[in-house]
Amino acid sequence: MAVRLFALKPECFPKLTGWATLSWRTCIYERVREAAKKQARVYAVDLRSDVLTKPTPAMRQAIMDATMDDDVFGEDATVNTLQQNVADMFNKESALFVPSGTMANLIAVLSHCNTRGLEVLLGHQSHQMIYEQGGLATLGGVHPRTMFNLPDGTFDLDHIESNIRPENDSHQPVTGLICVEDTHNVCGGVVLPLDFLTKLRKIADDHKLPVHMDGARLMNASAALDIEPKKIVESIDSVSLGFSKGLGAPVGSIIAGSGDFIRRAVRLRKALVGGMRQPGLLAAAAMVSLDDMIPRLKTDHNHTRMIAEAIMKASHGLVHVDLNRVQTNIVLIEMLKGFSAQFFLNRLEEVTEQEEKDIGESISVGGHPSTHWVARLVVHSSVAAKDVEAAIKKITYVLEEMSHMDPEKTYVHNSRLM
Ligand SMILES: Cc1ncc(COP(=O)(O)O)c(C=O)c1O
Repeated sequence: MAVRLFALKPECFPKLTGWATLSWRTCIYERVREAAKKQARVYAVDLRSDVLTKPTPAMRQAIMDATMDDDVFGEDATVNTLQQNVADMFNKESALFVPSGTMANLIAVLSHCNTRGLEVLLGHQSHQMIYEQGGLATLGGVHPRTMFNLPDGTFDLDHIESNIRPENDSHQPVTGLICVEDTHNVCGGVVLPLDFLTKLRKIADDHKLPVHMDGARLMNASAALDIEPKKIVESIDSVSLGFSKGLGAPVGSIIAGSGDFIRRAVRLRKALVGGMRQPGLLAAAAMVSLDDMIPRLKTDHNHTRMIAEAIMKASHGLVHVDLNRVQTNIVLIEMLKGFSAQFFLNRLEEVTEQEEKDIGESISVGGHPSTHWVARLVVHSSVAAKDVEAAIKKITYVLEEMSHMDPEKTYVHNSRLM
């Protein structure tokens, strides 16, 4: 992780010639060397995302030992076993291994909406709506219609029902699918309540519509509710699950649903990816992720809670964390006093000489701006208890430091997201 130790601005470089140039170069060299030494001393805690997890030694070993047979011929035993295990885990007929979560959701939407021009109802804060390149429209000719996501990741059910298109109006597109996300990323890793899913099922049945769940972090929801994932997806037609987030595998997602749904999905995957040929090594790591990583998700959730509570304790009224929404591995930090999320995150990342003196350590914490005024921290399996302790120390120090800055003055840094 980059550590902002100093800034070499153009005005720092006076026009020098001869020996002066040489000594200036030596001076820069010294500074770079100092910075490198300093960087080596920095204790970095990377909480930007749970996609940053590195494969465990067991996964690396499984990759080495994996079968390498052809999946296009359906002959790779590891891929087949993974698909069968996940289908069983979700109590669905069939499952299909795919390269990414984005592709899993796209294939699922297109498998359900196999006529161009159909409309999909999905949350305005959903990953599918915000972060998947509008693939369902650009590649599938499917029309997305956003439902307002409530802070708990759900929608108003009456609103959903009133947005399902009437069947016999030739002006309007035909509704083809409803999508939900569990846990809900942008809403802060919240877990969808089961009774919401049951009521949604009833509406979907009344209108003969399928429901797809983006379950990239479904195992986090399962750990938080302490119930088997099959209970969560009972009222859902299809589900995608990511292996490369909290489950720590390097690559891969899976979709599960009915036999017909997966048969169409196989063709769609072929159209989008072509053949994955020998993906057994990826499936092998995914298998380890199911065996080894699910049991430790609760530890991530406990660590997340510790960080969230520590932030509230040290907030000085500058930031707010809604602790009711800290249910899994994500903390959303709302900026209250004119400091932008990017300002706060930059300060968490950089290490100053003063803080090294004050706390006797050089700690750098990475986070991500969820919006201009909301910073996001995500805990994952590569974050150990001592990292949590270090992150809390740094966050507490930075909030204390910010509390001495003029609260009327705004410290805004541009962030990519609004
Ligand atoms: C909720 C959700 N769905 C889908 C995805 C997409 O997964 P991938 O990055 O594997 O395409 C992500 C990625 O972070 C996500 O958070």
